[in-house]
Amino acid sequence: MKPLGYIVHGGDYNPDQWINTPHIWDEDMRLMKEAGINSATVGIFAWSLIEPEEGVYDFSFLDTILDKMNDNGIKAVLATPSGARPPWLSQKYPEVLRVEETGIRNEFGVRHNHCLTSPVYREKVRNINRLLAERYKDHPALQMWHISNEYSGECHCELCQEAFREWLKKEYDNDLEKLNFKWWNGFWSHRVTDWSQISSPKFRGENHVPALKLCWSRFVSDSHISFFENEIAPLRELTPSIPITTNFMGVYNGINYQEMAKKLDLVSYDSYPPFEIEDSLEIGREWTFYYDIYRSMGGGKPFFLMESSPSLVNWRDVNVIPEPGRHAQSSLLAVAHGADSVQYFQWRKSRGGHEKFHGAVIDHIGTNETRVFREVASLGEKLKKLGDITGSECKSQVAVICDWDNSHATEYFHGFNNKRRDYFGECEKWHRQFSIRGISCDVISETDDFTKYALVIAPFMYMIKDGVKDKIKEYVENGGSFVATYLFAVTDTDDMVFYGGLPADELKEVFGIWAEESSGIPEGKEGTAELCGKTYKTEVVLDVIHSRGAEVLGTYTSGFYKGQPAVTRNAYGKGKAYYTAFRNDGDFTDDFCEMLIKDAGITPDTGITASKEVLIRKRGEHIFLFNFSDKIQTAVLDRVYFDIFGEKEVSGEITLPLCGYLVLK
Ligand code: GLA
Ligand code: ZN
Repeated sequence: MKPLGYIVHGGDYNPDQWINTPHIWDEDMRLMKEAGINSATVGIFAWSLIEPEEGVYDFSFLDTILDKMNDNGIKAVLATPSGARPPWLSQKYPEVLRVEETGIRNEFGVRHNHCLTSPVYREKVRNINRLLAERYKDHPALQMWHISNEYSGECHCELCQEAFREWLKKEYDNDLEKLNFKWWNGFWSHRVTDWSQISSPKFRGENHVPALKLCWSRFVSDSHISFFENEIAPLRELTPSIPITTNFMGVYNGINYQEMAKKLDLVSYDSYPPFEIEDSLEIGREWTFYYDIYRSMGGGKPFFLMESSPSLVNWRDVNVIPEPGRHAQSSLLAVAHGADSVQYFQWRKSRGGHEKFHGAVIDHIGTNETRVFREVASLGEKLKKLGDITGSECKSQVAVICDWDNSHATEYFHGFNNKRRDYFGECEKWHRQFSIRGISCDVISETDDFTKYALVIAPFMYMIKDGVKDKIKEYVENGGSFVATYLFAVTDTDDMVFYGGLPADELKEVFGIWAEESSGIPEGKEGTAELCGKTYKTEVVLDVIHSRGAEVLGTYTSGFYKGQPAVTRNAYGKGKAYYTAFRNDGDFTDDFCEMLIKDAGITPDTGITASKEVLIRKRGEHIFLFNFSDKIQTAVLDRVYFDIFGEKEVSGEITLPLCGYLVLK
């Protein structure tokens, strides 16, 4: 998408809730302008208004709203309504209702409760989307398409089972024997002799075949993608120049976001960081990971912060109002990592229904007299000063591999430590080491390009997909530094263990090691390993490895494998391949990354110095400093900068108060 030249400031606007009090719509327009809102997302849940009965359409509400928005200079992110259906639809066509894993069909209710395969549902969605595109394709307010809402879940109905079997036939070249072999079905006498004998993994049925589970996850993801493609077909046809996005949720892995992102014009993220509930510094650090994922998913291009709360949410166990100043700080954290928007759920608080106590820009009082409104309006003013940041990118010297497919593979196998896997947490743990040092870090999939990075870290990269072994080999040969951890390169794309010793094939040569055994480590029975004179706990899981030429940097200091290598470095071609054979949730990643950064000749992205409690991010020409800690922080600037919000030159030591931030150029 072309940069807009201004930060989109807006969010979910559901004026359908005030259809009987339309004077509120005029008040909305007035207050939006006052709050510096330049865009609103409309129509997300408007299906029952625009098609009150099958084939009966009434677009008057949307016409009015879009015209009002246009008259007031507010752009429209127009949503397709498939995230929630009108009751008549499932009453007439029960097949659109989702069937749970139990085999029981759901009744009407909530959202997302539909079958993604159902031809009727697909047709109904395509139809309403076509009508929306036909009607509003030339509307001057139309800015972007927002497809559905937070796609998620799965359906186990007969239509989906049949579609799954068709998916499998394609996957295995219509060859049942191939499937039997890849799924290892001969064991336990589970060889299938007809495709009809296969169905989705279920608690009451087949749930001990990791390859089946993996295929099902891939199928569910592909169904979402094909459902999405069905939705956007009329939009691509009628509005080819209008960008298309859909809102994703963090590291939700029911859909392979990294694959789906390829179909979007830009990636969007619904972000609800719990600053007010957990340790705010930890949350600030953790959220840099999600923002880096979203930027990387879109190939490094800006993403949209499609939803966030200007106040509290209503769906945590305990929902707490954020302290003053947090809202702007939290929103700017997204911008610092590549967001070209700050959008909210939702503009005006519902009076009834499920979300009546979820934060919104306008509270039940209905006026601008609230702290939240003032904070949003004040941020609106600030965002106006950041227009030139849109389109700019973050240059990363480092990448962490965090692969959606691998997240499933690491979840489905039985062995070693069945309780503690936490694939995304492992990736986040390594990623933050760069974030806290002011070094931008991309978060990429296995199949993305490594060559632009000086250092690539692959935490718990258990599954190595086709072509990836060669890619790692070439990357290191050509001078890259690659770090692998325990249980590395164990299985292939089909989740079958590589024969001939681990890590797979020629990776043994690249890393100069051989992993002979792996073991889980029970809590309370942790062991130790040593690196540069410091001792670390070995926890959760470890590999017993042998050096086959690699330099041994650290060794185990407990267990029968005491004295054997635990951390290695192998010079290979022009590069280096590191192996850390154990998991540690303490200081190890911090200390080891310090060494890696020096080794790879990586320097922080700016010359500004501060403690690790200050987050420093560079995006294009802009530098952001954040204080998420519970203490006043300082930083020392390396030259004279322009403080964009303070509109003055700054140099030397600066102070960051609680919830503090500074944007420099
Ligand atoms: C999600 C949904 C919104 C709303 C918010 C509440 O992000 O997309 O419709 O329910 O959660 O936080
Ligand atoms: Zn279904």
